[in-house]
Amino acid sequence: QLRAGSSRTVGLVVLDIANPFFTDVARGVEDVVNAAGLALILCNSDDRPEKESAYLAVLAEQRVQGVLITPTAELGPGLDALRARGVPVVLVDRRAPDADQCAVATDDVLGGRVAAEHLLAEGHRRLAFVGGVSGLPQIQERRAGVEAVVRAAPDAELTVLSPAELTVAGGREAAAQVLGVPAARRPTAAICANDLIALGVLQEMVRCGVRVPGEFAIVGYDDIDFAAAAAVPLTSVRKPRQEIGRRAAELLLDESRAGHHHQQPLFEPVLVVRESSRTSRP
Ligand code: RIB
Repeated sequence: QLRAGSSRTVGLVVLDIANPFFTDVARGVEDVVNAAGLALILCNSDDRPEKESAYLAVLAEQRVQGVLITPTAELGPGLDALRARGVPVVLVDRRAPDADQCAVATDDVLGGRVAAEHLLAEGHRRLAFVGGVSGLPQIQERRAGVEAVVRAAPDAELTVLSPAELTVAGGREAAAQVLGVPAARRPTAAICANDLIALGVLQEMVRCGVRVPGEFAIVGYDDIDFAAAAAVPLTSVRKPRQEIGRRAAELLLDESRAGHHHQQPLFEPVLVVRESSRTSRP
């Protein structure tokens, strides 16, 4: 499927190369790309639009056959420029703004919903959502799902915490904020925008002598392998990480086929319940 004038490469731009979610997505992409006799150029935007634009320019210069990207919050002009040059672009872990493009995403509103419903069923009424600062639509969708469930439960309330980063350090920061709230008003459970945050919340709670889940329950998001391996195994909303990468790469390769139709598959997330949220409060 070599396109005239292009190199035998495909670009993948991720938001955070240190997040195992993206390692798993990359694994799925690489399997498909390698089997097609192409090589992968991996770029890390750090969720910074200017870094993303610079990488897109480099990928264009390298004459890649296509680009897979989890974009920063705004879909910047760099993507349109690539498409205008005839370079196919597939959005990864992000819904497309219109039908004119392939995109592989997960129903993150549903993911937020199942996480919140689980904690309410476990008896929690004061919940926190950790990750409020992110402008990424896929994170805002999780928050919207949580908010819808909490709004519908008359006696439940939600605190939104916004640590600076969606990282383990961000999770530690959020846990310290929770512990700063007087006990009578303190949330008793957190839904974290991703597992890295959840691991940070867990680490700080344990360091401060808080029993998880007895005194504080935690739900993460993504179900990276470290979730099950944590000292207190983490409940998490599982996304099919490698499958997302594989599907996106298949769609990208299909773009050069006559009769290609843009597709926008939406995966269903699944709640995986483990020890960090299993027991109701004492
Ligand atoms: O980049 C932040 C998050 O967005 C990841 O953890 C993953 O869940 C993605 O959807």
